[in-house]
Amino acid sequence: MIDFNLLGNEYGTPLYIYDGEEIEKRINIIKNIFKNFDYKIFYAMKANSNPELLKILSKNDLGADIVGPGEFIAAKKGNIEEILWNGNGKITDDKKFFIDNGLKYVVIDSFEEIEMWDNTDIVKLLRVNPNVDAKTHPHISTGLKTHKFGVPLDEMDKVKDKIDGLHLHIGSQITDVSPYMEAFSKVINITNKYKYEYLDIGGGWGINYNGTELNVEEYKIKVLPVLEQFRGKLFIEPGRFIIGPSGFLLLKVIQVKKASGKYFVVLDGGMNVLIRPVLYSAHHDIKILDSRSDEKCTCDFVGPLCETGDIIGKNRLTEIPKIGSYVVVENAGAYGYSMSSNYNGMPKPAEVLVYKGEKKLIRKREKIEDLFKDCI
Ligand code: LLP
Repeated sequence: MIDFNLLGNEYGTPLYIYDGEEIEKRINIIKNIFKNFDYKIFYAMKANSNPELLKILSKNDLGADIVGPGEFIAAKKGNIEEILWNGNGKITDDKKFFIDNGLKYVVIDSFEEIEMWDNTDIVKLLRVNPNVDAKTHPHISTGLKTHKFGVPLDEMDKVKDKIDGLHLHIGSQITDVSPYMEAFSKVINITNKYKYEYLDIGGGWGINYNGTELNVEEYKIKVLPVLEQFRGKLFIEPGRFIIGPSGFLLLKVIQVKKASGKYFVVLDGGMNVLIRPVLYSAHHDIKILDSRSDEKCTCDFVGPLCETGDIIGKNRLTEIPKIGSYVVVENAGAYGYSMSSNYNGMPKPAEVLVYKGEKKLIRKREKIEDLFKDCI
């Protein structure tokens, strides 16, 4: 059990807190599902790239899916050996740096990018767009032909001899298995036709923010038989599934304001520390650690920033927390810290790992002076 009050008192807020055992438990769920496959997990670093968390992943033999040099260096600091480079805007200087430092796999996003990888020993996967609707938020849906990612599946023949396999990632926070079945069967027809050695099926497994999540038992029953048609090496790129439920955001109540018939609980962090609620209308459960009374009222949990969109949770029927107490925002491990910002001149939060009965500060709170260190 994590003692949130203790951590808040010791490290201050806003504070990201991670549960190392939960990370391992979730890795093992994935490993168990794919145990009969020849597979490798490449953790999607965009979800959270703190090197101390990555050390837990490397100990469990995970590789990393990176987008740019910051994530590449984080992977190295986390002792991750196998690195795969995904992205639709690759830069030649980065390519040289990555190859010099042991990059193994690349996912090519366009026909135009193919020649960038001629005469290299890197394993090349081509990202294909299967034109399948992942039925998730439009900002994080990626597998329709109108989206910027990949090449149309039915046009890939022209580069078929220049690649070693295919890649697809149809979206994120997917809770329905049917888009996976549809997309994978389309792609496996092609990998089998050209006898490719590799198929990377991306990530996207939806977690339980608000009652629905990807049903892994259903995935086993319905999606694995489709994947079994592929005879080569399978790559998987989960991010959120591993780290999302393993992370919490601890915030302090700095004001409770009553206006227009409801309460606004003002916290010491908002869209600067967790942008998901305003960006995707995302729901995160909020746990109150100390309340005024048992009476429930409708509350908006808001941050201290100057925007109406500065919201952590809207219209929650809940007890009113005491000023100075803490609230815990759940499922905050993925795309929380990694999408945080300095908006309104706010320093980035600290991060703490709780693992094997110990707590460890894994990133110090940013200092106000750091905000100006590059100004000239
Ligand atoms: N592979 C590729 C190529 C991706 O683009 C992504 C996520 C993943 C794997 C991992 O997806 P996951 O398993 O985490 O769903 N900021 C958004 C999510 C953006 C996801 C971008 N790509 C959010 O907060 O919901």
